[in-house]
This record gives sequence, structure tokens and C-alpha cells, in this order.
Amino acid sequence: MQGSANLNLMIKAARKAGRSLVKDFREVENLQVSSKGPGDFVTKADREAERIIMEELRGARPSYGWLGEETGEAAGEDPTRRWIVDPLDGTTNFLHGLPHWAVSIALEHKGEVVAGVVFDAAKDELYYAEKGLGAFVNESRLRVSGRRNMIEAIFATGVPFGGKSTLPATLQDLARLMPVCAGVRRFGSAALDLAYVAAGRYDGYWERGIQPWDMAAGLILVKEAGGFVGPVREGRGILESGAVIAGNAQLFEPLCKILRQPA
Ligand code: IPD
Ligand code: CA
Repeated sequence: MQGSANLNLMIKAARKAGRSLVKDFREVENLQVSSKGPGDFVTKADREAERIIMEELRGARPSYGWLGEETGEAAGEDPTRRWIVDPLDGTTNFLHGLPHWAVSIALEHKGEVVAGVVFDAAKDELYYAEKGLGAFVNESRLRVSGRRNMIEAIFATGVPFGGKSTLPATLQDLARLMPVCAGVRRFGSAALDLAYVAAGRYDGYWERGIQPWDMAAGLILVKEAGGFVGPVREGRGILESGAVIAGNAQLFEPLCKILRQPA
């Protein structure tokens, strides 16, 4: 795909941050056995990745706004455009030496995500999409799955941890969904969960208690791969809603029906 200058810039930033994280990830594997553990080291790796991305993106487009997991929000001279960045999605996996984490970068224009990059650096899988131009992983086009029956479908989610208030609702979702599908996965990276829906590996995904930077890039991957996305509570803007549903064309509605039932 012949992407725009902005998409190429996002890819360059994601690859650069990914290289830095891969180096740090090797070190984490050594630190697992030390008494201090790798906690502080990972925090530094995460911040360094965001610094690299910011330097690339804001260096090239100083007028755009910014929303990053580590550095927060900064308005730009151009109020219509904003980068939405999670330098390391899947931090817990990274910390535990599990090779399932990603760099996530999205570009929003007038409130709509128009380009997204999710880079799984450990597996060298670069997912990217631009509005109207389709979604890709490396050189291959992405398509959501064609499964039609819930009972054959696999869904991904994120189960809230550390006392988050969304745990009871998520447990209720699982109780409703698990008996009627082929399985639910919890791999620990929302950005990759959405990329896997776009790739047809999962038939759908939902999560409560999620932030704009976790999902922004993944949402456009799903849409450009022919899938659907929406908020759990209808009528809310998807990025601000904090609870998202994604699915292939046939199973999005049945999944919404199950997850939108009253408590
Ligand atoms: C987390 C991951 C996880 C999801 C959490 C996120 P982080 O992001 O995406 O899969 O369940 O809601 O906070 O903290 O690893 O960047
Ligand atoms: Ca995240």
C-alpha cells in the first residue's frame, strides 16, 4: 500500500521505538531472576519509547496535538489533529518476559481516527491502516474472519486487574458469552487484540475500562479490514466511552446483543 506521509512517519516512529523496546526486553529476561526484579527498568523502557515516538512525530509535525499514556495531553496549534500514543501496550507481559506487547500510534483528525500503526516488535509484525486504503500486516492485506456462528467463534477480552471497578461487569460478560462460543482469550494487549480481530485470528473482542491510547490504532485496523466497532454503551463516542466492542461483519451484532444486556 502507498501510504500517506503521515502514515510513513508513524511507521518510522513505531519501528524506532520497537527497536529500543526489543533491546530492553532482552534485558528484562535477565532481570527476572534478580531480587529487585525488572519493575523500574520497564518503567524506564516505556518512557524512553514514548520519548522516541514524541521526538519523531512532534519533530516532524509540531502543530499537531498529543495524547500519550506516559506524558498525557498537550494541545497543538492545529486543534483538528492529534497523535494518540501507547508506547508499550502489554506492559505486564513485557515485565514478565512474555513476548506479546506492541507500540500503538494513531492519528486523529476532527475527532476521527484516520490512520493507525500497531507494531508487534518481538514477532516483527507491523500492522497499519489508513482511512479508505485498507489494513495490512507487513505486506499482506488484512481481512476479518468470515465466521457466522457464535458457537465456532473465539473472542478476546481484557480482564480488569488490581481492583478495577469494571471486574464484576466483565465477569458477567464472561458468564453470558462463554457458554455460547468456542472460547475466550486474555492475552494482555488490547492493541494486539484488535489487530488480531483485523487479521481474522479472533472473531471479536470487547473490553471495559480501557483508555483511548489502548484502542485508537486498533480500531481503524478492524474497520479497514471489514469489521465493525462500537461502544458498549450506545450513544457515546467510542474513544471516550471506556468500553469497546469489535467484531467481524456477521458476529458484531450478536456480540453487542449479549454484552449490552442490562446487569
Ligand atoms: C493494558 C493492556 C491490557 C488491557 C488493559 C490495558 P498497558 O495496557 O492493553 O490488555 O486489558 O486494559 O491497560 O497497561 O499494558 O499499556
Ligand atoms: Ca495500553
